[in-house]
Amino acid sequence: MTDNQRVVILNFGGQYCQLIARRVREAHVFCEVLPYNTTLEKIKDINPVAIILSGSPSSVLDKDAPQADPAILELSIPILGICYGMQWIAHALDGKVEAAPRREYGRVLVNLRNDTPLLDGMPATTTCWMSHTYQVTGTPDGFSIAASSEHCPIAAMVNEARKLYCVQFHPEVTHTEQGTRVLNNFLYNICGASGGWTMEAYARQTIDDIRAKVGGGRVLLGLSGGVDSAAAAALISRAVGKNLTCVYVDHGLMRKNESAQVRDVFTTKFDLNLIMVDASARFFSALKGVTEPEQKRKIIGGAFVEVFREEAAKLGALDFLAQGTIYSDVIESGAATGAASIKSHHNVGGLPKDLGFTGLIEPLRMLFKDEVRALGLSLGLPDELVYRQPFPGPGLGIRILGEITPEKAELVRESDAILREEIASAGLARSIQQYFTVLTGVRSVGVMGDERTYENCVAIRAVTSDDLMTADWARIPHDVLARISERIVNEVRHVNRVVFDITSKPPASFEWE
Ligand code: XMP
Repeated sequence: MTDNQRVVILNFGGQYCQLIARRVREAHVFCEVLPYNTTLEKIKDINPVAIILSGSPSSVLDKDAPQADPAILELSIPILGICYGMQWIAHALDGKVEAAPRREYGRVLVNLRNDTPLLDGMPATTTCWMSHTYQVTGTPDGFSIAASSEHCPIAAMVNEARKLYCVQFHPEVTHTEQGTRVLNNFLYNICGASGGWTMEAYARQTIDDIRAKVGGGRVLLGLSGGVDSAAAAALISRAVGKNLTCVYVDHGLMRKNESAQVRDVFTTKFDLNLIMVDASARFFSALKGVTEPEQKRKIIGGAFVEVFREEAAKLGALDFLAQGTIYSDVIESGAATGAASIKSHHNVGGLPKDLGFTGLIEPLRMLFKDEVRALGLSLGLPDELVYRQPFPGPGLGIRILGEITPEKAELVRESDAILREEIASAGLARSIQQYFTVLTGVRSVGVMGDERTYENCVAIRAVTSDDLMTADWARIPHDVLARISERIVNEVRHVNRVVFDITSKPPASFEWE
C-alpha cells in the first residue's frame, strides 16, 4: 500500500515552485501544487502533513500581493515558508518586511544555527542560493533567528511551538549545498513523513483505484505512440484488461516503424483491445493540393477527430474516456485547482467529448514527465517508447514544406530514420531534445556519377531546449553530420543535398511549419 500522506505546496508564482514539488517527491513524499488562494476548507479536506509556501515575483508590501488565507497558520500543520513564503508569514504575523539594502542574487554564504530540527546536522556555514529584493527585518513574536548572511541578517527564522519554519534561501535549488537536507529535515524530523511514496506504490494504488472506479465498465483511450498515452494504457490495462480499448490512428505521417512498434508492444505485453486504423489514404486525399501550413494542420487535426469518432461509434456503449494528461498539462492549463479540464488531444485537434462517456480517467494527472517515464519502464514499456522524442500531432506533415504526398512522406521518413540511427550510434540521443529532417521543398542542381541531377534538399533540424519555449541548435560534431549527410544522399532516392539548420528559437521555431 502507498501511504496517503500529502504535502500541499501553495504556489505564489515563484519560478522554482515546480522544483519544490520535484524535491519533495524525490524525498518519497507525495505533494500537490495548489494556487496560493486555495481555500482553508480544501486544505483541511486534503489534511496534509505539511504545507510549503513558495517564492513569488511579488513583494508582500504590494497592495495586490498574493495572499493565502492566514488561518492556515493556525492549523497546527507544520509550514515551511520559502523566500516570499517566509516574508508572507512574517507580514501576516506582524513581523517586519522591507526592501533589502542590497539585493541578493546567486550563491551566498549563510551562517546556520543548528539547534532547530530544521537545520539539524548542518555545518555552521554553507552556500545557499538566494534570489530576493525584499527581506524580513523584524521577526514576529515567538520566532527566533536561525540563519543569517552578510546582507540578510534574518536568512531563516523558526517558531518551534507553532511549527512555523521560514528560509529566505531556496533549499530546492541544487546550488544550495544543504538544500536536500533542509527539506528532508522538514519532512522527516518535523512533519514525521513516512516516505512511502514510490512509483511502484503509486502504480499499485492507482490500479486498485481504476478497478474500483471502472467496475465492469468499458474504457476508451486514444494511443498516440507517445510515452504519456502509452503509460496510461499500460496502467489501465493492468487494472481492467480487455475492458480497455485503445484506438491508434495512423495518418500516414508517423515516423518509420512507429506504428509497428505500438502494435508489437500492445499486442504482446499488455492485455487490452487494440484497434489500429490505417487512415493514411484518407489523410493524403484530404491534403491533396494544400500548401498553407495552418490549413494543413487543421485538416490533419479535423480528420483525426473524425476517424477517432467513427471508430468509437463502432464500439457501442463506452463508459469512460481515458487520457494521458500529465501534471505539467494540468498546471499549464491553470486547472491545478482541480476544475476538471479535458485536455485537448495532445497530438491533434481535440478528442470528441460528446460520445456519452460517464467519466474521465486520467491516471497520470499527478505525475511529472520523468515520473511518467519511470512508471512506463516499471510497467514494461520499452526504452525506445519511454524516451521517445516529442513528436507533433500533425507528424511529418509539418516537416514537408508545400503539398504533402505519400512519396514525400516516405522521403522524410527514410531520411529521419537515418538521422535517428546515426544520432543514437554517436551516443547523442539523450543530449539533444529533438532532431528530425525536413523536406525543404527546394530542388537544386547536383552531380551524381557523370549525371547532372536536379533533386530535393533535406534539412537537418536538431535542438537543445529545457522548456520547448526557447532552444539552441545542437552542436552536432562535424564527423557525425558528415556521416548523416553521406547516408541520406546515398540511401534516400531523389535527395542530392543536405543542409543543417543553425537557427535558435526564437526567432525560428523547432518545426519548419
Ligand atoms: P515549435 O515548432 O512551436 O515546437 O517551436 C515546439 C514543440 O512543440 C511541438 N509541436 C507540436 N506538438 N502538436 C503537438 O502535439 C502540434 O501541432 C505541434 N507543433 C509543434 C514541436 O515538435 C516541439 O516539440
